[in-house]
Amino acid sequence: VAAAMAAERGLAVATCTAPVNIAVIKYWGKRDTDLILPINSSLSVTLHQDQLKTTTTAAASRDFTEDRLWLNGKEADVGHPRVQACLREVRRLARKRRGGSEDTAALSLSYKIHIASENNFPTAAGLASSAAGYACLVSALARLYGLEEELSEVARRGSGSACRSMFGGFVQWQRGERPDGTDSLALQVAPETHWPELRVLVLVVSGEKKPVGSTAGMQTSVETSPLLKHRAEVVVPERLAQMMRHIRERDFEGFGQLAMRDSNQFHATCLDTFPPIFYLTDLSRHIIALAHRYNAHHGHTKVAYTFDAGPNAVIFTLADTVAEFVEVVRRSFPPATNGDQFVRGLPVGSAALPQELVAAVVTEPLPGAVQYILHTKPGPGPQLVDDPSQHLLGADGLPRSRA
Ligand code: DP6
Repeated sequence: VAAAMAAERGLAVATCTAPVNIAVIKYWGKRDTDLILPINSSLSVTLHQDQLKTTTTAAASRDFTEDRLWLNGKEADVGHPRVQACLREVRRLARKRRGGSEDTAALSLSYKIHIASENNFPTAAGLASSAAGYACLVSALARLYGLEEELSEVARRGSGSACRSMFGGFVQWQRGERPDGTDSLALQVAPETHWPELRVLVLVVSGEKKPVGSTAGMQTSVETSPLLKHRAEVVVPERLAQMMRHIRERDFEGFGQLAMRDSNQFHATCLDTFPPIFYLTDLSRHIIALAHRYNAHHGHTKVAYTFDAGPNAVIFTLADTVAEFVEVVRRSFPPATNGDQFVRGLPVGSAALPQELVAAVVTEPLPGAVQYILHTKPGPGPQLVDDPSQHLLGADGLPRSRA
């Protein structure tokens, strides 16, 4: 069953795709930086791969002379410690599975490998790509070596949030207790079909790159923020139980309120870090205020925002609210040039805004501040790509020239 072994030619190839996820109870802080063990559990929604995905092909051959890696068509450093950690762990599991016996049909673990990975969205858009990237790397390697077990523990070694991209729908990363990390893994709370009306709008903002990466930022927070310590010990355990209940009951009011509060507390721990870290910008604050005005106008939670370690806003809402809220965003951040491409992803109907809604909600338009809106929804976990024409590496084991 291992990687459709084109073994006659001495080349084994496997291709997988993997999704992005967005946390509604945030992970921020490690108790072990090498094993990537978090100080608190977290919970996320996996986004649909039709809109955002990574595709990775892994190939092994006795003819390869060194391990090599290409990201979005350009050769990258395969020696990166986190890439190496994932490779080492997958190979270790493959060796363990074979129990030391030399299975001649199995792919040799001594062969060098080539890996090519690309995103179906622009990296420049600043959308979290490391979670999808490492989930996809581990999925493709697992296929290559014929591993069938659950591998969120290995994806975690690439990037903490990557372990949650190993499942679709609603996913918990339980912090675990053991020092060796064997119980720090992802679990599916509910599949993507559980809440069919749930929608996600990614507001991709113009310009700006993140000031401090999450890996470095969260470590400074662990070392200096008393609020983060309180959050991990007291707040998150309570919120996690509440959030699971809201999801189980498909209670958007509860889900949305808690998602906003948790995003705000994560950014409060960043401000409590010393020296402080600022991920929210003036534009983020405009979007936050807009969401609250919109909800206040309707008298309940119709939209909920969440922000990670970058300026893009992610909005959760329900299908019946998408058209109206997208129109509110269009009026609040009038597109500069790309009027026709302002809304991407799943189709969005048109909505005429009542005058009193415009008056109450659209206060000070900021032209061009939002580049575009990506409309998506919860989706499944990593997928195997069967069609050999979709492999990113050709029969020679090198990246296919891209059209
Ligand atoms: C703010 O998973 O990128 O997005 O484990 O160091 O690779 P490393 O960090 P990473 O951190 C993600 C932080 C976050 C919140 C979240 O996704 O839970």
